[in-house]
Amino acid sequence: MKILVIGAGNMGLTYAEGIAKSALLANKKLKIYDTDPKKIEILKEEGLFDVYSKLDDCLPTADIVFLAVKPYHSDVLFQEMAPLINQEQLFVSLMAGVNIKSIQNCLGVKKVVRTMPNLPAKVGKGVTSYTASPQVSRVELMSIRHFLDSTGTSIHVKTENFIDASTGISGSGPAYVFYFMQSMLEAALKMGFSEYDSKVLVSNTFEGAIELFNQSNLSPEGWINRVASKGGTTQAAIDSMDDNNVKQLIQDAAYAAFDRAVELGKENENE
Ligand SMILES: NC(=O)c1ccc[n+]([C@@H]2O[C@H](COP(=O)([O-])OP(=O)(O)OC[C@H]3O[C@@H](n4cnc5c(N)ncnc54)[C@H](OP(=O)(O)O)[C@@H]3O)[C@@H](O)[C@H]2O)c1
Repeated sequence: MKILVIGAGNMGLTYAEGIAKSALLANKKLKIYDTDPKKIEILKEEGLFDVYSKLDDCLPTADIVFLAVKPYHSDVLFQEMAPLINQEQLFVSLMAGVNIKSIQNCLGVKKVVRTMPNLPAKVGKGVTSYTASPQVSRVELMSIRHFLDSTGTSIHVKTENFIDASTGISGSGPAYVFYFMQSMLEAALKMGFSEYDSKVLVSNTFEGAIELFNQSNLSPEGWINRVASKGGTTQAAIDSMDDNNVKQLIQDAAYAAFDRAVELGKENENE
């Protein structure tokens, strides 16, 4: 099976490296294509992939093509790709807000998988949601799942609406966690801790809480109840968050990302 990744940026390289390391390619080198001469030179020196600067040399023979350019580069790219592709090829889009129908229309193809990756894929802890056009077979979808899982884990969703929804939870989600971390860091600094100590306190608190959560069946609420005792310090913090409606505000933020993903999809469709 010949795999081509188009776009050697953050996401393209993350998936390319994940797939290449996973031994899923049975000694065949993954192909990667980018337009940036500097990136091409560096990748060629590293020798992990077959690196291409011309689409005609790599696209026509690829079986699966990962699309990992920014959405605003997709129009130009699709125009260049269209004459070089065939109906048997399968396209896996990592692009936010570009829906299956517009990829099918622009490329004149049927088999498209749309995904929503997230940044922890860089450290093998990503979660990718994905859905496919009906022309993608179950066997093909299983292969794609293996490739996506090489960067962490994945979930199959039935409709593209859930791709937009997962943008609001997992796609943009790492930034919500960083926002919470930043707020706690700033609180620690205000309390007089050094920058180093603040970082140790905050990062280990997050890591420890996640580990507790992952190693038990307790819900986050269950863990809050274990930590907080009536009239105690944790309860004072939780009461303050509840009084300020923090839970609702976080849900509003997730919906803002979801709504924006839907909006971007419509904008791309109309272009
Ligand atoms: N980063 C995230 O956390 C994240 C999360 C979810 C989804 N995504 C999606 O992942 C996709 C890629 O994002 P990214 O952050 O990896 O972008 P990126 O770092 O900018 O990478 C895109 C790469 O594609 C290259 N490129 C541009 N036009 C091209 C063309 N016509 N043909 C071949 N290569 C081309 C770019 O080169 P230049 O640098 O020269 O333009 C760059 O190397 C986006 O569509 C985004 O929506 C990203």
